[in-house]
Amino acid sequence: MSRKPLNIGVCGVGTVGLATIEILRDYSETLLARSGQAMVVSHVGARHEHPNHDYGEARVSRDVFDVARDPDVDVLVELIGGTTVAHDLIKLAIQQGKHVVTANKALIAEHGNELIAMAEAAGVQIRYEAAVAGGIPVIKVLRESLAANAVTEVAGIINGTGNFILTEMSTKGRAFEDVLSEAQELGYAEADPTFDIDGTDAAHKLVILASLAFGIPLSIDAPMKQGIQDVAPEDLECAASMGYRVKHLGIARRTEQGIEMRVHPTLIPERKQIATVEGVLNAVMISGDAVGEVLLVGPGAGGAATASSVCADLVDVARNPAGSGSALGIAADALQSPTWVPAEDIASEWYVRVTATDQSGVMSDITKILASRDISIESIIQKPPPPGSDKVAIVLLTHVAPQSVMTGALNEITALEGVEADAALMRVEAFDR
Ligand code: HSE
Repeated sequence: MSRKPLNIGVCGVGTVGLATIEILRDYSETLLARSGQAMVVSHVGARHEHPNHDYGEARVSRDVFDVARDPDVDVLVELIGGTTVAHDLIKLAIQQGKHVVTANKALIAEHGNELIAMAEAAGVQIRYEAAVAGGIPVIKVLRESLAANAVTEVAGIINGTGNFILTEMSTKGRAFEDVLSEAQELGYAEADPTFDIDGTDAAHKLVILASLAFGIPLSIDAPMKQGIQDVAPEDLECAASMGYRVKHLGIARRTEQGIEMRVHPTLIPERKQIATVEGVLNAVMISGDAVGEVLLVGPGAGGAATASSVCADLVDVARNPAGSGSALGIAADALQSPTWVPAEDIASEWYVRVTATDQSGVMSDITKILASRDISIESIIQKPPPPGSDKVAIVLLTHVAPQSVMTGALNEITALEGVEADAALMRVEAFDR
């Protein structure tokens, strides 16, 4: 006997919302075959009128809360974004006994503990595959496929806009602002792209990945956060000339001291597969004790790719409406609060570039400062001065040192006579420690 259709309420009709409605319409037969239930968009919440949008037979409401109150809707798909209206909307949907599917990483990272506990108590599902790394099925992999592993590290390129910008700057020499405009036109960037640029979007996603990986509560304040806004074209060039690529990474790592959580531009040796992931592609590397290292690569942003994850969540709801475990893999009240490693204690190798007057003694002063703090130099290069200038760039790669020790040394170096105050400092990760 065939089941009644799964009625879906879609709130938010931007790039992802429209692509979701299109997939549900165009692939209805395939989705029915795969889930065992027809899926119908029965109600659309669109706060503005869009004369060109085709919502099929769906009822349309300007007030998105009408979708959450509609007794015929089984699953509410939240694609509005932000943490205000979307938050209230999801709470109302859960109170009304509806399953929820969302692509909202900020909301899950910030309010996920509350929402997931509410959903568990109400016996409904909250699914968010599209919230992290767009079309890559990473939530499912961490929650289900790697459930037998103790995960020691999750690291990845988890902002498509940022990776697109760094790739275009380094491979085509394009200007930051120019590439950002294109990312906005292509629907990769957030409505306010500040979050793509300053690392906030990647930090939200890392919070979610870390929670799934380590069985810890969602911890919005945990990540140390640095964006791509200060990555200079000359550093991309220097890194490339030394055999490295600069990627904006999110890293959550379990160490003996506790858990490190950080997002920042990072030099990665180009022999590592993740260093070759370019453009809007994302990549997530997961290290588990049983499986070893797994690398997932795919489109990290864009309407259709993200809608692919939204629809996969809907198929899961249809296949198993009674739910298949907690949204974070472990029941909300069984998550364990960890010890965090403070940012200043997080050790890594470092890339340093300083600008100095081309005179004798400067290089030896710099190396003495590093030696006095027990920072060992792996390589040091002095770039010839540009024509007509007496300023040279001195570029160093160091061995492992904690952040506080490295920044202390750099402060001392940039205070030297003949060295400019402006310097570049980035972490280097070879993922082989
Ligand atoms: N703005 C985000 C990105 C969209 O560029 O990755 C996907 O979360």
